[in-house]
Amino acid sequence: MERTSTPKLISVLGGAPAKRPPIWMMRQAGRHLPEYLELRSRAKNFLEFCYTPSMATEATLQPIRRYGMDGAILFADILLILDAMGLGVEFEKGVGPIVQQIEAASDLGKVPAIKAADRLAPVYETVSRVKAELPKEAALIGFAGSPWTVSLYAIEGRGKTDKSLAWRWAHGRSDELAAVMDYVIEATAHYLVRQVEAGADALMLFDSWAEGLPDNIFREVIIRPTTKLVAMLRDMGVTVPITGFPRGAGAMLSEYARVTGVTAVGLDTAAVPLFVNTALPEGMPVQGHLDPLLLIEGGERLDARVRELVEAYAGRPHIFNLGHGVRPETPIANVERVLKIVREG
Ligand code: CP3
Repeated sequence: MERTSTPKLISVLGGAPAKRPPIWMMRQAGRHLPEYLELRSRAKNFLEFCYTPSMATEATLQPIRRYGMDGAILFADILLILDAMGLGVEFEKGVGPIVQQIEAASDLGKVPAIKAADRLAPVYETVSRVKAELPKEAALIGFAGSPWTVSLYAIEGRGKTDKSLAWRWAHGRSDELAAVMDYVIEATAHYLVRQVEAGADALMLFDSWAEGLPDNIFREVIIRPTTKLVAMLRDMGVTVPITGFPRGAGAMLSEYARVTGVTAVGLDTAAVPLFVNTALPEGMPVQGHLDPLLLIEGGERLDARVRELVEAYAGRPHIFNLGHGVRPETPIANVERVLKIVREG
């Protein structure tokens, strides 16, 4: 279907001012929605759910139907790319993701990067199905994990670790780590190009494990690989806005925003508006950063904080979002309350 107008989310990412910020929420699709739990119970496991376009399309659209969010995030997972590379990925209840652990860069690359992207064809099918059904006011956001966060899962082998193994690679095996990340970058670039070709209006890079890194390592494992990936995407003809979300970047956010070439930055729960507004280039769009735990609690403090954040970023393009994902125990009424305040004041 031909689009007749630009979704508000996309014009704000393009730097246009908006009276009220557009809004969507990370992990808006998922376990806080009863309709998701019902749908999810029909799939054998989470991977099968992600690889079944009819189900993934429905999960992507559920929060749009219920809340009328300004953005629909593709229903998929940042670890699918590792599965496509031939590392087995499993999601175990209570344990989190488990990935076949690599010991060297040579454990990867058995599947050519472009082939890994080819294997994710069901994801592109989901993108095009969502695009055909999405109201024209809503933007479709494609995504991938960043090179560091995806590589970290392959090195650590599971999600719930202290991440010290990947950090030690960064300090002691930096060439090996760079080789792993180069392969991840190439596969991710093909993966994201295909999402855009299928209809994604914007892209987001999740760097969930950017937190707490020493600044020299942050440059090597976050800034340099992200810069490379963004440049590769632009070289491959991608023109849509790209939002980078280096969760926990702290003071390194400034350099990240200036150097990597991302269009906008996602802010995490600990972001400080005064710092953000002085450290980032004028007019650079930001997305964030309500605490998902406050969203669970609700009440007057939630109302006040939402107003405070809207006010704090009134001087630059702002997309209202959370500082991390919606938690399963989040009351629907609180999500509705946030939408009302963001939209009506
Ligand atoms: O609304 C959406 O955002 C849906 C699409 C989406 C999912 N994961 C679905 C999902 C997105 C954008 C992600 C990104 C993702 N996945 C990240 C980056 C964002 C972040 O949270 O930091 C990360 C680190 C992952 C890896 C991952 N996937 C973990 C650690 C887990 C297990 C923990 C958990 O929250 O369950 C997953 C599983 C997962 N991904 C679920 C969903 C809906 C839950 C699976 C289920 O329904 O059983």
